[in-house]
Amino acid sequence: MAVLVLGGAGYIGSHTVYELIDSGEDVVIADNLQTGHLEAVHPKARFYKGDIRDKEFLDKLFKDENIDSVIHFAANSLVGESMVDPLKYYDNNLYGTMVLLKSMVENGIDKIVFSSTAATYGEPESIPILESDRTEPTNTYGETKLSMEKMFKWVSKAHGLRYVSLRYFNACGAHISGEIGEAHNPESHLIPIILQVPNEQRKEVGIFGDDYNTKDGTCVRDYIHVTDLAQAHILAVKYLRAGNESNIFNLGNGVGFTVKEVIECARKVTGHKIPAVISPRRAGDPAVLIASSEKAKKILGWKPEHDSLEEIIETAWKWHKNHPKGFQK
Ligand code: UFG
Repeated sequence: MAVLVLGGAGYIGSHTVYELIDSGEDVVIADNLQTGHLEAVHPKARFYKGDIRDKEFLDKLFKDENIDSVIHFAANSLVGESMVDPLKYYDNNLYGTMVLLKSMVENGIDKIVFSSTAATYGEPESIPILESDRTEPTNTYGETKLSMEKMFKWVSKAHGLRYVSLRYFNACGAHISGEIGEAHNPESHLIPIILQVPNEQRKEVGIFGDDYNTKDGTCVRDYIHVTDLAQAHILAVKYLRAGNESNIFNLGNGVGFTVKEVIECARKVTGHKIPAVISPRRAGDPAVLIASSEKAKKILGWKPEHDSLEEIIETAWKWHKNHPKGFQK
């Protein structure tokens, strides 16, 4: 039986496919290639181009392939974009998930692991953030992910499907082989933006605000290697296969770094000066986001392996240095 990875040509999806195949799983990928890349598709996975909002496409996939469980990455995930085009997020993330669930229920597929986010919490009530903390998203992206979690809850009660929701903190880094990595267009994430400077694609990094209540005034985030995130998905599939109940887990390293610390670390890794300038705060950025991942460690047996920021940036640099245009030739 195969694992179906929706969005398996995207950043976290493609890394998860690599780990699944390494662990001996049979993998089927579906991706509409809106933000994913064909070049990121693992050669041993069976690829179908299609959209999760297309129920006929999904129904056919579930009939043609022998699917045991689904891992669902197929969503839009840019906070800024979600504020200017909220309906795009309701359409792809929420409506898309509704169509997917309909098809899963009708085709008797009863296990799903899906991407959620630290953005479901909004402004945290305390640090580190626990799964039981208040969820009050401050942007449309986080709101659609929280609504997806709730949709799973009610559908699971009615139809017996079981799910694991994984709330990622700041995904970063690249596959150790250097074959796949992060490639967004336009890029908005801190580490790839920083690395555009030594790659001679930009002159400096803008630091979005230095007047936050943190040790150096810049925002603190919990950076987690994409391969560690990928491993958590495999553990979550095993957890559901073992018959366990639906659950929600945070995934982070439990350690926060300021924007200035990340830039300093990138200077060390690349040997480049990486000039930085202070620019205005970015709307909707909480000052500090750090996960408690004790629950994932205890229940899933998850253990991040690439937990030093230096190692994370080294893997990202290896990828970006050799692929300055991402997957484009
Ligand atoms: N930042 C800068 N300059 C930049 C880009 C980012 O200073 O050019 C700062 C941001 O203000 C933030 C930190 O770097 O403080 C990290 O920013 P990212 O855009 O890399 O990541 P976010 O923390 O904003 O977002 C990430 C994920 C989202 C998810 C969110 C959860 O990318 O999908 O975490 O809070 F929703």
